[in-house]
Amino acid sequence: MSGSPEAEKVVAIDGPSGSGKSTIARGVAEALGFEMLDTGAMYRAVAYGVLLSGVDPEDAAAVTTVAENAAIAVQHGVTTLAGADISVEIRGPAVTQLVSQIAAIPEVRQALVARQRAWVDQHGGGVVEGRDIGSVVFPDARVKVYLTASEEERARRRQQDEAAASRAISVEDVQSAMAQRDAADSSRAVSPLQTADGATIVDTTGRTPQSIVTEIVDRYRAAEGAS
Ligand code: DC
Repeated sequence: MSGSPEAEKVVAIDGPSGSGKSTIARGVAEALGFEMLDTGAMYRAVAYGVLLSGVDPEDAAAVTTVAENAAIAVQHGVTTLAGADISVEIRGPAVTQLVSQIAAIPEVRQALVARQRAWVDQHGGGVVEGRDIGSVVFPDARVKVYLTASEEERARRRQQDEAAASRAISVEDVQSAMAQRDAADSSRAVSPLQTADGATIVDTTGRTPQSIVTEIVDRYRAAEGAS
């Protein structure tokens, strides 16, 4: 539940792709001794499940059935679907191209938000990263952060991720695909990417991950002491 004591022990990290969410969330979780949940991986796992099962992505009811029933687990950087490790597949071009469309279906979001709240209840809190975590999923989170970075730096980071996974793509192509996805994520009717009430905006351009992690951990400790 978003109003539960567990929800208060949440660090909500939102922002567009390439803003540094995963790196920062991992660092904050480690520093606070919390588990971390990558909710983007959950949307990606549903998109992969849709591709795998041959469901028509335009059929919102069928896609929702996948979101409600698929055995998805995201833990320690590994994403599984029905027990199979799909961590590599969900970062591939087919999923990346489809995922914004899947994430715009209100019933899919409802199903995944319920799972995200249950995850926090089970873990007694955590660091949760995504697009709507501070605004919709955990509005009572103890600390809410909205990460940004310049478009060029975001594209450069994503291109490095792609190169590390042996997928050759130019920074320019990454930047244009990213701009399209960000526009879709920001303009959708339900839970668009936006800065949550009470969120601190942190520009990660040119900053070290460690300095940002320290800033967020300090904020959490201060909020903890004040409550
Ligand atoms: O962070 P990412 O690139 O792995 O996210 C994949 C997609 O899922 C992206 O199009 C935004 C969407 N998403 C969302 O709508 N809500 C979230 N809480 C997390 C991700």
